[in-house]
Amino acid sequence: MHQTLQLIHTRRSIRSFSDEPVSSETLLALKEATVRAPTAGNMALYSIIEVEDQAKKERLALLCDNQPMIAKAPIVWVFLADMQKWINYFEESGAVARATEAGLAASRALGLGDIHLCLQDAIIAAQNAVIAAEALGLGSCYIGDVIENFEEVSDLLGLRRFTIPAAMLIFGYPKQTRTVKQTPRCPPDSIFMTDRYEEPHLEEMSRAYAAHEEARRRVGSLPYQNTGTLADHYYLLKHTSAFMEEMNRSTAVMFDRWVNG
Ligand SMILES: Cc1cc2nc3c(=O)[nH]c(=O)nc-3n(C[C@H](O)[C@H](O)[C@H](O)COP(=O)(O)O)c2cc1C
Repeated sequence: MHQTLQLIHTRRSIRSFSDEPVSSETLLALKEATVRAPTAGNMALYSIIEVEDQAKKERLALLCDNQPMIAKAPIVWVFLADMQKWINYFEESGAVARATEAGLAASRALGLGDIHLCLQDAIIAAQNAVIAAEALGLGSCYIGDVIENFEEVSDLLGLRRFTIPAAMLIFGYPKQTRTVKQTPRCPPDSIFMTDRYEEPHLEEMSRAYAAHEEARRRVGSLPYQNTGTLADHYYLLKHTSAFMEEMNRSTAVMFDRWVNG
C-alpha cells in the first residue's frame, strides 16, 4: 500500500504518552506541515495556541470534561477559528478607511458564514497535524470538549471577540508498545451518496454500524446488560449526556459573542 495510505489506515487515537521529549526539530516539522494545510483564500483564518504552562494544561484538563491525559500530554494545541487578526489588519492598515473613502465597499458585521469558514480552516489544519504527527512517529488525540465552558476557556487563553476554539489536539510519543486494534468504521457505501441526500433509516444505520455494535457486544459494553443496541449505547452515553448539553450552551455563548459582541 502507498505509504501515506498506510499511515492513514494504521493511525489510531493515542491517549497515553511516554516520557520521551519531543525535539525542537520534530516540533518544527509538525508546525510546518500543519500550516501547509489548504486554507480558504490562502488567508489562514485560524491561529493555534500551544499550551506550555502546566497550570493551564491542568485547568484545561478539568474544563474539557475532566480528561487528565491533557495535563500529561507533551504537546497541547488549541486550534482557533480566528477572524480577529484580519479585522485588526483591515482596520489598522487603513484598508477599511480607504475602501469607505473610495466608495468601494462598506464595512460589514461579521456573521455565521465567517464563523463557518474560519472553523473549516482551523479544523483542516488540525487534521493535517494529525497525519503529520503520525508520519513523525507521534500519537495524537482530538479533544472535542474544548468547546465546553467557553467563558473560562476564553479567559484562560485570552481569546478575543472573533476567536473561538475550533478543535484541540494533544500529541506525544505513544506509551503503548503493543499493537492495539483499529476502531471500526462505517463502510464507504454507507457514507457516500450519489447526486442527492439519501436519508438513512433503521435498516441502513444498523448495517452501517454493524461492526461498531459487534465490537461492543464482544467486550460486553452495550447497555441493558449487553442486550442493547448501538443506538442505546450512543443515545445514553453521548446524545443525552451532560457534556453534550454543556457543548450546546457554551457554543451558543461563543457564537453570540462573535455575532453580537
Ligand atoms: C471532533 C472529535 C472530538 C474528539 N474528542 C475526544 C475527546 O474529548 N476525548 C477522547 O478521548 N477522544 C476524543 N476523540 C477521539 C475519538 O474518540 C476517536 O477518533 C474515535 O473513537 C475513533 O478512534 P480512532 O481515532 O482511534 O480511530 C475525538 C475525535 C474527534 C474527531
